[in-house]
Amino acid sequence: MPIPSVQTAHPADRPLKGLINVPGDKSISHRALIFGALCVGETAIHDLLEGEDVLATAQALQSYGARIERDDGGVWRINGVGIGGLMPPRDVLDLGNSGTGARLLLGLAASHGLTSVFTGDASLRQRPMQRVITPLAEMGAAFEAAPGGRLPLTVRGRDSLMPVEYQPPVASAQIKSAVLLAGLNTPGQTTVIEATPTRDHTEHLLRHFGADVEITEDSGGNRRITLTGRPELRPQTVRVPGDPSSAAFPIAAALLVPGSEITVKGVGLNPLRAALFDTLREMGAIIGETNRRMDQGEPIADLEVRAGPLRGIEVPPDRAPSMIDEYPVLAAIAAHATGPTVMRGIAELRVKESDRIAAMVTGLKSLGVEVEELDDGMIVHGNGGHGGPPPARRDARVETEMDHRIAMSFLVYGLGAQAPVKVSGCEMIETSFPGFAKLMNGLGGRIEAAP
Ligand code: S3P
Repeated sequence: MPIPSVQTAHPADRPLKGLINVPGDKSISHRALIFGALCVGETAIHDLLEGEDVLATAQALQSYGARIERDDGGVWRINGVGIGGLMPPRDVLDLGNSGTGARLLLGLAASHGLTSVFTGDASLRQRPMQRVITPLAEMGAAFEAAPGGRLPLTVRGRDSLMPVEYQPPVASAQIKSAVLLAGLNTPGQTTVIEATPTRDHTEHLLRHFGADVEITEDSGGNRRITLTGRPELRPQTVRVPGDPSSAAFPIAAALLVPGSEITVKGVGLNPLRAALFDTLREMGAIIGETNRRMDQGEPIADLEVRAGPLRGIEVPPDRAPSMIDEYPVLAAIAAHATGPTVMRGIAELRVKESDRIAAMVTGLKSLGVEVEELDDGMIVHGNGGHGGPPPARRDARVETEMDHRIAMSFLVYGLGAQAPVKVSGCEMIETSFPGFAKLMNGLGGRIEAAP
């Protein structure tokens, strides 16, 4: 059934309660598919995120010759082509809304002697690709991109690139991963140097599939990730943990709706991903962890959340890479807290699926929240200390710039508000969180198609 584009979140009239699972981690899902496609033999992926972004990556990998099927039990089975074994794609590769899919696959395409054409939806065609073109061109691949280093672009790859030592100019796991993926089919050692560590799922999965990855710290405190090229990757079983970036939304709702108590099972808590939960605890949130365990190099736990008063804080800017996708929902939560929440050092938010700083500032203002926009962040003045959430205008409709996380942030905001909030662009939620409204409604929320 098609997802209604405009949805209304009604103020919850009862506490949210329940035990839920959220969909699989998006970052790990893309990577598991890619590594499976680079093995000869069958990789099995459990709990893959079946969102549009990940399915676009699967389709691109099929175009390169990998066999990818979902069995009746919901397990994804990949029969790959081996490192260096990609076939010329049968068609243009359309990565839809997915920056991760596009940038990671560019690394792969660059390191094979074939020509690929990449494109995406209107949002993805606006997003900067030069950040991966620069290191991949330094390694020896050739690119012809749309003005500004954007999609659509043609990449002419080579079977033997030059290994590089590359320090990305911005903290980005996508840049790191594109270079490391190119390094897989490159003789010698490829090194990425990170001044600020970013999510390390690529490193974990490379090791899980049998590659030699060395991680050290240099004298300047930088992280050096060195991959030895041309390993033989061995097919594996991968269990994808629940996505902390998706768990953030029901957790936010449970914090905001009085009396709520929910548990989210099996959430991935990689320290380079999970800083939102630390931030929320600093704001006074009660978020307990049970059943903590390690699985395939990733920490996982069940999160138990209870509603309660929150106070605004200053989020340390150096925390940004470890919660980069969570600032929109944090801004929505902050509007219901007491006092200002200061978020700085997040200029990268301006080049995500939308300009997320502008989208949150505009949307919150339209709901009557006092917000200041900064070049590299925002300050949200919460008024939750005065007996409830900020008053939303009855006719408010928030434009979400076709950005899934902006849409979910405002729907969650609405569940904790005094008046319904109407949100546009909700079909985009399918890119990362299929079944979002149903899951929230199962907890006791009321999100429905707007009349
Ligand atoms: C991702 C990295 C982050 C994040 C994105 C997923 C990844 O992007 O915002 O949603 O899977 O590597 P950047 O690497 O551009 O910061």
